[in-house]
Amino acid sequence: MYPGFSRDIVSFGLVREVTVENGCAKISLALTTGDPKVPSQLKMTVDKTVAAVEGISEVETLITVSRPKAQPQPAAGAGGGGGAGAAQNKIPGVRRTVAIASGKGGVGKSTFAVNLACALDQEFRERGRKNAVGIMDCDLYGPSVPLMIGLNGQPKVDGEMIIPLENFGIRVMSMGFLIDPETPVIWRGPMVAKTISQFTQNVAWGELEIMVIDLPPGTGDAQLSLAQTIALDGAVVVTTPQTAAWNVARRGAMMFEKVNVPILGVAENMSYLENPSNGQRTYLFGRGGGEKTAQALNTQLLGQVPLFEEIREGGDNGIPVVIGSPNGQPAQVFRSIARKLLETFDD
Ligand SMILES: Nc1ncnc2c1ncn2[C@@H]1O[C@H](COP(=O)(O)OP(=O)(O)OP(=O)(O)O)[C@@H](O)[C@H]1O
Ligand SMILES: [Mg+2]
Repeated sequence: MYPGFSRDIVSFGLVREVTVENGCAKISLALTTGDPKVPSQLKMTVDKTVAAVEGISEVETLITVSRPKAQPQPAAGAGGGGGAGAAQNKIPGVRRTVAIASGKGGVGKSTFAVNLACALDQEFRERGRKNAVGIMDCDLYGPSVPLMIGLNGQPKVDGEMIIPLENFGIRVMSMGFLIDPETPVIWRGPMVAKTISQFTQNVAWGELEIMVIDLPPGTGDAQLSLAQTIALDGAVVVTTPQTAAWNVARRGAMMFEKVNVPILGVAENMSYLENPSNGQRTYLFGRGGGEKTAQALNTQLLGQVPLFEEIREGGDNGIPVVIGSPNGQPAQVFRSIARKLLETFDD
């Protein structure tokens, strides 16, 4: 088991090589951690477990530890390089990789990821850079990005590489393109890591400024596994305002701290409902969750996304609201969040 988690190091993809010769087992592990206790604890457990195997008289466990970058100060920017797994799957051609996470399900992660990607694209376009944004949908069990961005069908394959599908200038890869929607998918841990690894290495993403990653709900083992498979620059935590949600978001986000992925900011979603005739706001889910989460995680509040019917409609129609009504209020909120996010990078 990975210390502090209920998942094993094999399914987390940490085991690099195992050889057995004349009763001597050589095991090499690679991990990214800033906590010196983790490798020593792992070495002890691996040595003990393998020594108990019949026919093994000697165990050599080699652990390569890469040190992640330190958590950035919110104002100072996220620094270059990468967070956890910087030594691992850096997506070729992709400058920045940001995961969208949440503690609870259904808080609007996928909606946020898709609209943020579109808003980022518009920001880059204004700077004369087209086709600079991608979305990697890592929700392998319940992919919702294809529907939300109006894409379906099977991607073409060129040799070893999958060509991502594209709409509104955004390149997208999702399990939704590869499986029949009627078939339930039951993935085991190792399969998840393998698929994600293929999404990073075997997709012809091209040159991208930023990749937005939609994660499945929760920040448990599956997310840890993802965070260790992909070299993330950081994560944005999405929460809704109520206590029940932000508590989960705060606790869940600590998972990223464990693997040293910087939290770039918190986005509060479904913050309020505004009466269009008089501008009066109703706080359906309470108030302050985003701000509290940001404070607890020692990061910034990137913005508050109100409840808008057009946001939901855009998700259902496959035309994200940022594309459908680029001058509307919802689009402006996402644009402002996109700008704030880009400001956290130092170049
Ligand atoms: N700000 C908003 N205003 C109106 N509707 C919204 C807003 N945010 C999300 N929704 C709607 O809420 C529903 C759930 O959103 P979404 O699927 O993005 O959540 P999720 O966190 O990705 O869910 P899961 O945890 O299952 O992945 C969708 O129907 C979406 O259109
Ligand atoms: Mg989702």
